[in-house]
Amino acid sequence: MKSKIVIGNWKMNKSFDEAEDLITEIEEILADLNLSTLVVLAPPFPYLELATDHAPDGNFECAAQNCSQFNNGAYTGEVSASMLADIDVEFCIVGHSERRKYFNETNEILAEKVNRLTEVGLIPIYCCGETVEEREAGVHFDVIEKQIKEGLFHLLPESLERVIVAYEPVWAIGTGLTATPQQAEEVHLFIRSLIEKKYGTEAAYNLNILYGGSCNPSNALELFTQPNIDGGLIGGASLNTKEFIEIVEAAETAGSDK
Ligand code: 13P
Repeated sequence: MKSKIVIGNWKMNKSFDEAEDLITEIEEILADLNLSTLVVLAPPFPYLELATDHAPDGNFECAAQNCSQFNNGAYTGEVSASMLADIDVEFCIVGHSERRKYFNETNEILAEKVNRLTEVGLIPIYCCGETVEEREAGVHFDVIEKQIKEGLFHLLPESLERVIVAYEPVWAIGTGLTATPQQAEEVHLFIRSLIEKKYGTEAAYNLNILYGGSCNPSNALELFTQPNIDGGLIGGASLNTKEFIEIVEAAETAGSDK
């Protein structure tokens, strides 16, 4: 049985005090739950060390939301993968559609970020997904195929093994519109088949593919029980302890049903 994964992407939200409260509340609840689901919190950079300090007692792991494509040097404002490793961050989101859109991140840049992360042992959470125009034009599979191939297919099998993929249809992010479980499952199966063709059946089976986009306590269970959905990348609902924990519990239920 593969355990599910739930990742809370806080984006650019919360004050330091609010972050501390949210981490502490989640920590206290998770410490009592003894779950097989892997829970990961991705707060903004200034709160990461606070999160990694709490992680061991709270049964969660920590992710950054971004990293530099460079190793080190004169890149003002950037944070390197090895700096994240130094403060015990274990995961990093790469290529979120907001970074692709607002910060012009291309598949080529993202492939470099994936390299920097795998070089220092961090797990990339590589995001892909189509815009509403691309879905309406019927080219969503082509878009996703290009994102996956250009961002990941340069990896050796032993590095690919450590990657998590997140399918986040852009039209579902922060809009309250969720992909139906069937729409999401169809794309997840497609992503797995791309991996299978390049890396083989075992690598494809082992790859964790998360769904993101208006995932909430009422739709989480149905999404997570789809055969190719291994958990969720949660935005808005991860800012609220009760909603986030309900999503984690849905993942636990879905995982134990498998
Ligand atoms: P929402 O859950 O707010 O739609 O955001 C999804 C997301 O972008 C997670 O990375």
